[in-house]
Amino acid sequence: MKTFEKLKAQLNHDLMPVHVAVIMDGNGRWAKKKGAGRLFGHKSGARSVRAIVEASVEIGIKYLTVYAFSTENWSRPESEVKGLLNLILNSLIEEIEELSENNIRVSFIGSDKNISTDYSEKVKKECEKTKDNTGLNFIVAMNYGGKIELLDAVKKMIPDIKKGNITADNLTEATFESHLYTTDIPDPDLLIRTSGEIRLSNFLIWQSAYAELYFTDILWPDFDKVAFLEAILEYQNRKRRFGGI
Ligand code: IPE
Ligand code: IPE
Ligand code: MG
Repeated sequence: MKTFEKLKAQLNHDLMPVHVAVIMDGNGRWAKKKGAGRLFGHKSGARSVRAIVEASVEIGIKYLTVYAFSTENWSRPESEVKGLLNLILNSLIEEIEELSENNIRVSFIGSDKNISTDYSEKVKKECEKTKDNTGLNFIVAMNYGGKIELLDAVKKMIPDIKKGNITADNLTEATFESHLYTTDIPDPDLLIRTSGEIRLSNFLIWQSAYAELYFTDILWPDFDKVAFLEAILEYQNRKRRFGGI
């Protein structure tokens, strides 16, 4: 049997991904298979988040980003949207102490649009508690969309463009990136998506330009530490060329 410890022993510590990003998909289908409601699926999915955060700490991952709610997810029934937003905030509040004790720095990335000030303030207050931690950077993509992030970056640059600080001649990828939600976060090396869907669904579209993509049929609530290590081991077998030979 593949155990976490056995797989962990196979890791090559010189080839660890610095940043792992995860599209946590399949909660609804998992719940349906069990004859339960979609929110039960989301609640069960929260356990998998906990498991991969723990695994990331144990194997020394520096950045872990999880896609919790997309700008497209507002199109779901209101009850599901409300349930998801509450679950994300309540899990954060419940877990923050333990996360902080484990030296984890928590932050949220995403758009402010459609999110109440009260909600953002609560998130900010919890994240603040972990700001001096130096271990795993745990990033929650919440109300996140890659396209709106790119537009927001352009909007943020407009004042500097007007002042002539940013011009067609001096605008670089680095300057552009410094206006993304992910300033100070390195690009993901490995991007995992569960549930058998083979698409990015507007997740980190700029940052994933050279990410290694890993797709598994496992539904998110069934994704555990062993499945996570299997993804990392597969990543370590990939040949990254970045356009070279
Ligand atoms: C992923 O599970 C969680 C979110 C998108 C918030 P889904 O809710 O998309 O589950 P499926 O894809 O319907 O099974
Ligand atoms: C992507 O999953 C968004 C999150 C995991 C938060 P979706 O279930 O929303 O994606 P689509 O609709 O299948 O592309
Ligand atoms: Mg889905």
